[in-house]
Amino acid sequence: MQTLTIIRPDDMHLHLRDGDALKAVAPYTARQMGRAVIMPNLKPPVVSVADALAYQQRILAALPEGSTFEPLMTLYLTDKTTPELVREAKAAGIVAFKLYPAGATTNSDSGVTDLFKLLPVLQEMAKQGVLLLVHGEVTDSDIDIFDREAVFIERIMKPVLAQVPDLKVVFEHITTAEAARLVSEAGDNVAASVTPQHLLLNRNDLLVGGVRPHHFCLPVLKRETHRQALVAAVTGDQANKFFLGTDSAPHAQSAKENACGCAGMFSALTAIELYAEVFEQAGALDKLEAFASKNGARFYGLPENTDTITLEKQSQTVPESIPYGNETLVPMRAGGEVAWRVRY
Ligand code: NCD
Ligand code: ZN
Repeated sequence: MQTLTIIRPDDMHLHLRDGDALKAVAPYTARQMGRAVIMPNLKPPVVSVADALAYQQRILAALPEGSTFEPLMTLYLTDKTTPELVREAKAAGIVAFKLYPAGATTNSDSGVTDLFKLLPVLQEMAKQGVLLLVHGEVTDSDIDIFDREAVFIERIMKPVLAQVPDLKVVFEHITTAEAARLVSEAGDNVAASVTPQHLLLNRNDLLVGGVRPHHFCLPVLKRETHRQALVAAVTGDQANKFFLGTDSAPHAQSAKENACGCAGMFSALTAIELYAEVFEQAGALDKLEAFASKNGARFYGLPENTDTITLEKQSQTVPESIPYGNETLVPMRAGGEVAWRVRY
């Protein structure tokens, strides 16, 4: 049987929620990832250092006995974030602030209304080496949902990088050729996370033959040419600027299969296996380890994990659903086959 042993990966973009939901999903990530960058879009959002450290303790308490998984904490950038808070965050080991443009996605009501009013905060982040993680979509109602990332690049990303040229920015969950190009051409202070769904699926998988609510996430899946551009980016010449960030974002089945179904795909159950499919299909399995286990750590200024995981080329059937508190959760590829499995 074909096997592949790689340094234990990290998930640089993860939603773990809180309470029973957290207890339901955290063990799946902890069994394959060494660390994860934890998104702060709880209700209410994680905006203070005290909130983040308390949340980190709840995450650690939700892990199986003996787990060495490390949650890397972030704060939610708001119109009220101050340079003092950036310094306080740095001192407390918070790795980043997350920019959600107001109204962009799930629980983003507290998001930023005008990023350019926060320039002193961004300058302090650059000075302190605290990362800015960007949900890169504009929210203007006149901008088509499929164009929101490309418009964000022109209206926000390029001007911000011009004004704070040494800011370390992660363009999160990129979905377009435009974003891949921006990151490839930018300085070493700009990188991107890429999800399994944006590498494996296109908007036909969302809309052909009926609406597939479990394939609805934000930024929304794009056309096939963009998916191909992302695969080219993570396997190409500038591949060291791209890293694993699942954006695994659990929502109860009832909230997804709904007249107003919410955005988010839960991929944590078979995350590294799904990425292995992408790299294998691209003839680039030798590049999986850098993407999953090296590029993210390097960008965050962290050492690589010291242990390994082994993937086996053996098909597994993904469950139709898994328990999620009192509800159920439908994972990515539910009821289907994934070509690889992790040896646990
Ligand atoms: C995320 C969520 O559910 O928290 N949803 C999503 O579609 N990606 C929020 C986000 O990262 O945009
Ligand atoms: Zn996310």
